[in-house]
Amino acid sequence: MPDAPSHKTTIAVVDSNARHIAVLTEALDPFYRVMSFADSEDALDWLRTNRPSALLVDEDVQPLSGTSTIEALFRMPAARRPPVIGVAAERTSPFLDLARRRGAEATLVKPLHRAGLIRAVSDRINALVETSWDDYESTPRVALKAAAKLFAELQARFDGAEEPIPFDLVNEAGAALIKAVKFDRVGDVLYGLRFHDNYPFVHCLRVAALLAKFGMEMKLGSEDLATLTAGGLLHDIGKLAIPYPVLNKPGGLSYEDTQLMKSHVARAAQILNRSTDLPRGVRMVVEQHHEKLDGTGYPRGLFGKQVNDLARMAAIADIFCALTDRRPYKAAMTAKEAVTVMQDMGFAIDVRLLGTFTPILVDPSLGSGHID
Ligand SMILES: [Fe+2]
Ligand SMILES: [Fe+2]
Repeated sequence: MPDAPSHKTTIAVVDSNARHIAVLTEALDPFYRVMSFADSEDALDWLRTNRPSALLVDEDVQPLSGTSTIEALFRMPAARRPPVIGVAAERTSPFLDLARRRGAEATLVKPLHRAGLIRAVSDRINALVETSWDDYESTPRVALKAAAKLFAELQARFDGAEEPIPFDLVNEAGAALIKAVKFDRVGDVLYGLRFHDNYPFVHCLRVAALLAKFGMEMKLGSEDLATLTAGGLLHDIGKLAIPYPVLNKPGGLSYEDTQLMKSHVARAAQILNRSTDLPRGVRMVVEQHHEKLDGTGYPRGLFGKQVNDLARMAAIADIFCALTDRRPYKAAMTAKEAVTVMQDMGFAIDVRLLGTFTPILVDPSLGSGHID
């Protein structure tokens, strides 16, 4: 398989059944670069010099069985070994237990449903990335871990837990991020997100970092700065309710997908409504970050002065990050390219604020250009 440059994270599949490989590749290929091996020895050979972000091993692979392949993998130095997902033909297969006991981080049973498969792969990638933060210096490590803990809790709110936003965790993550910005360590925080596969998490953290910087530029008091940063962390939490394949879909979205994507603002508002003590500014950022000053935004089509000042700042950070985020289907735009695009948006965004923040947006020391 050619080693073409790709914006995607690499996933390897070891499976001797060509039909299975075709099914797996079809499910994963839109979001990941898939390397597939019908021969387990070829796979082990390749793994000597390559480390994919996750490795799926089928139980019936040849010539080494799935169990023997996993055993060989776990004889490799830990730092070189990818996270392993064992795949069994049926729920009663002894391979499931064997794979776990030999060290596989997760197991799946066929037939593989796309959503479950992608979630298992994505979770393994994120676990690997989050483990790497242990080697970071204290300030960026604390900021990354506090934000990841917050998002794990927020995800639970969308997976069924009927609880309010854990605002103590929002404050903790916000304070850690503000500290990282103040100590000029936010570049390390963004570096730690490069290969993380939870897009709402990565994007919200980038937006929050920029908003903290904007707030300092505007000389906001500590309470307003905390509110603005919290707004950034929470602005897109409604996207945690959107299935991965829609959220990361390459190319144009259907009308239904677009409506689902736009529903993230209402979904976030529903969760925010469970809290009575949420600062008004946080709510404004979440509810208005897609409003445009010329009335072309959503969900309410607000106009000019109807758009809250903090939400105007959030819109600038949000559009900039959307343009410069690394996605499976596109390269990240450079900071300068993104600013040019935004300058061409006319009066949809606050032109005066964009002018004020442009030196921050193009400042390479913030590491906000792009996270590649
Ligand atoms: Fe949004
Ligand atoms: Fe956003």
